[in-house]
Amino acid sequence: MERSPDSPLVDPVFAERWSSRSFSDTPVSDEQLAAMFEAARWAPSWMNNQPWVFFYETDGPDRADMEAIISEFNRGWAVAAPVIGLIASRPGVEGFMARTAEFDTGAAAMSLAHQATKLGLAVHLMGGIELDLAYEKTGLNRDEANILCAFAAGHRGDGSNLSEKLQSREQPSDRMPAAAFAFRGLTPTPRPET
Ligand SMILES: Cc1cc2nc3c(=O)[nH]c(=O)nc-3n(C[C@H](O)[C@H](O)[C@H](O)COP(=O)(O)O)c2cc1C
Repeated sequence: MERSPDSPLVDPVFAERWSSRSFSDTPVSDEQLAAMFEAARWAPSWMNNQPWVFFYETDGPDRADMEAIISEFNRGWAVAAPVIGLIASRPGVEGFMARTAEFDTGAAAMSLAHQATKLGLAVHLMGGIELDLAYEKTGLNRDEANILCAFAAGHRGDGSNLSEKLQSREQPSDRMPAAAFAFRGLTPTPRPET
């Protein structure tokens, strides 16, 4: 299916970004990677706390560990991606700003994904990870940081390396309309059946 925003004013990048599971073996250049993290850098955060942490690997020495951190289902397709990584939040402060650290990190992750889309790349976030292994391999402390998800990035593939079932899901998904979650005033309407 084609993603078609209900408003003609919406930038095309929002429809062009979707989470493919097929990646070609074309490498992502260091320049493209730098642009993705530069985009993440400019995300907003409470008091400019910038709690996000990104780990990434291409074909370097930590590739095997990075792949092992991805859960079995996701690993099946994600290992074909030239870039895989992990995203964590590390508030670094006690108290009020810690409350939005994951929210801020999500904004940075979305900035990265949209910049990647602008460069003709795809990013697929993965909550399905081996969490204990992720803490062990990164050395992050659970009291100080929250490892949130992994990601795969690269050029979209043609789907030929996927199972038939995953090939059939290799397309943009739909959304509920904005009227279902954006309310003028303070009274929400019930969430629609999806
Ligand atoms: C935090 C987060 C975790 C996700 N975890 C997984 C995952 O473990 N495996 C997977 O295949 N997709 C995962 N996804 C991708 C979502 O399924 C996908 O974003 C959603 O279906 C909407 O599709 P779209 O990104 O193509 O628009 C995750 C997305 C997010 C934001």
